Amino acid sequence: IDLTGQVCADTIGPYQYSGVGGQMDFIRAASLSEGGKPTIALDKFEKKAHRTPMLSLQNSYSVEDLYEFEKRAQKVLVTEESFEYLAELKFDGLAMELVYENGLLVSAITRGDGLIGEDVTTNVRTIRSIPLKLKTSYPLLEVRGEVIMLKEDFKDLNERQSENGLEEFANPRNAAAGSIRQLDSSISASRKLRFMAYGLGSTEGVDIKKQSDIYDIFKNEGIPFCDKKLREIAFGAEKIVSYYRKIEEERHDLPFDIDGIVVKINSVHLQNELGFVARNPRWATAVKFTPEQSQTVIEDIIVQVGRTGALTPVAIMKPANVGGVTITNATLHNQDEIDRKDVRVGDTVIIHRAGDVIPEIVSVVGEHPKNSKPYKLPSKCPICSTSVVKEENEVKTRCPNSLCPARIKESLKHFVSRRAMNIEKLGDKWIDSFVDNGFIKSFSDIYKLNEEKILSLDRQGKKSTENLLASIEASKKSNLSRFIFSLGIRFIGEQTAKNLAAKFQTIEALLSASEEQLLEVEEIGTKIVKELMHVLNDKVFLREIKELLAAGIVLESNTASGPQPLKGFTFVVTGSLPQDRNKVKDMIESAGGKVSSSVSKKTHYVLAGEEAGSKLEKANELGIKVLSWDDFRKML
Ligand code: IVH
Repeated sequence: IDLTGQVCADTIGPYQYSGVGGQMDFIRAASLSEGGKPTIALDKFEKKAHRTPMLSLQNSYSVEDLYEFEKRAQKVLVTEESFEYLAELKFDGLAMELVYENGLLVSAITRGDGLIGEDVTTNVRTIRSIPLKLKTSYPLLEVRGEVIMLKEDFKDLNERQSENGLEEFANPRNAAAGSIRQLDSSISASRKLRFMAYGLGSTEGVDIKKQSDIYDIFKNEGIPFCDKKLREIAFGAEKIVSYYRKIEEERHDLPFDIDGIVVKINSVHLQNELGFVARNPRWATAVKFTPEQSQTVIEDIIVQVGRTGALTPVAIMKPANVGGVTITNATLHNQDEIDRKDVRVGDTVIIHRAGDVIPEIVSVVGEHPKNSKPYKLPSKCPICSTSVVKEENEVKTRCPNSLCPARIKESLKHFVSRRAMNIEKLGDKWIDSFVDNGFIKSFSDIYKLNEEKILSLDRQGKKSTENLLASIEASKKSNLSRFIFSLGIRFIGEQTAKNLAAKFQTIEALLSASEEQLLEVEEIGTKIVKELMHVLNDKVFLREIKELLAAGIVLESNTASGPQPLKGFTFVVTGSLPQDRNKVKDMIESAGGKVSSSVSKKTHYVLAGEEAGSKLEKANELGIKVLSWDDFRKML
């Protein structure tokens, strides 16, 4: 039972108090049962009214309109004086209201139509940075802000979605909104969501004179908000115009998406005098960035076959510049997506970069070329000509032939990749050439390469051959989770591989695992178990593992085998270090520590190499202990 009296789970399982805010983590964890499986899977979200309506802002695409905005406010207040403004980022996510009663988070409500939203409390509770209890027991404090996903986490999520044969999200905003709107709270819990507070709704016991004072409250209460350096308090519209131009330049370097700036008259007294017109406040406005788009022509649509056999249509376009980057390819995702946009060869299209990263076709401009036909994915694999299949509930069409050369090449590329067996020197070109020349048909063939074979290929120098063989040799010393991940089993991403390794400790134990044992593994449900059982009973797969081990691959267990001196400590690694970043991560994890990608109050140590940047700055700001490489070695 949590502090609000809600019954959450019957077992607490492996969770324990930890570090700052540990008690809250304990309660947060208790709302999910052991293994992150949901105890609360809803049929639908309940509707809930906002005490104070969540209004919207008037939008403009031209920063010059700020002068008009100022004039309108001056007219209402019958003054010629300018105002003190608070200008801040306009986060591109999902608007959310957090309701704290007597200092406890009692509900989280989406904006909905502004008057009534959806109660998504269970899911919002899983966002770790949102405090469940405030330091001050305000009778009522409604905090408004945006749930967002970092660009980096969005990329990782899409990688996982694709690995698991699920539809990818178009941009971080959709990913954040889709994650919050999950009826199964264990899914939202597995997504890395953040919250950025920017306003208040109804309050009792709060007295602020300036809009910017809310940030003092947020700071005191541990509510996440945006870095002060990215806000501006200034007198007069002119200064805000400069702020807009500065942010417009910097926005691609921010770790999250914004779609403009929000400008607020800072005095709460003036805000009250100005009031509202229709559903917009007269004291605030938004200036949006013109989305960076470009127009080009589709020259061809090709089909790529991935390692799981998934067919991905890709538009090949006349090179076009979007926000300073030349774009020639854009994924069309799947047949449904093509049908929805009706994209055809020869079409003129508008393109942009989704989440500032992935090139995407927004829409078709004008008519399709005469005699063009709607594009349909081929019925046979373009590489091996096997008839393709599309399973129910899946958006992707697949080539089912596990010996398809495209699948073999992609599987090998995955096997050697940095987070898998990390065979740095075995690049895509080598793999294509080895497969095309019949030298490699399976993972274990990599370990059968020798100088003679490699040198028999055209244009291979002795030095690069030696480097390649050394890199292959070095990869033989690996660990269980990397090995499991590298096998490219459907639905087994990096995290699931780690969970499997933690449970079974040795490859032999995993190979003889029962269905019941597999179901006990964190984040593994019946779908994954079915796939794993299928693989573990596949003779070809088992023979391949035997061959790999016979080739001399040695797998260290990932956990608990040795002493765990770093248990309970979270590290952030930044800057350039004498060892490969992944190796350092392994060192920390095998000593029981955790590695996180961003510095927060929950970070215990920042391991900083040379040229460490903003993460080091943040560590100093928060007073977090910074370790040099030598300190770290000594600590280990
Ligand atoms: S203030 C009276 N500040 O933009 C409305 N909104 O139309 C006060 N948004 O969906 C809103 N960043 O969720 C405000 N720094 C910020 C914001 C922000 C994003 C969103 C908000 C709403 C939309 C306003």
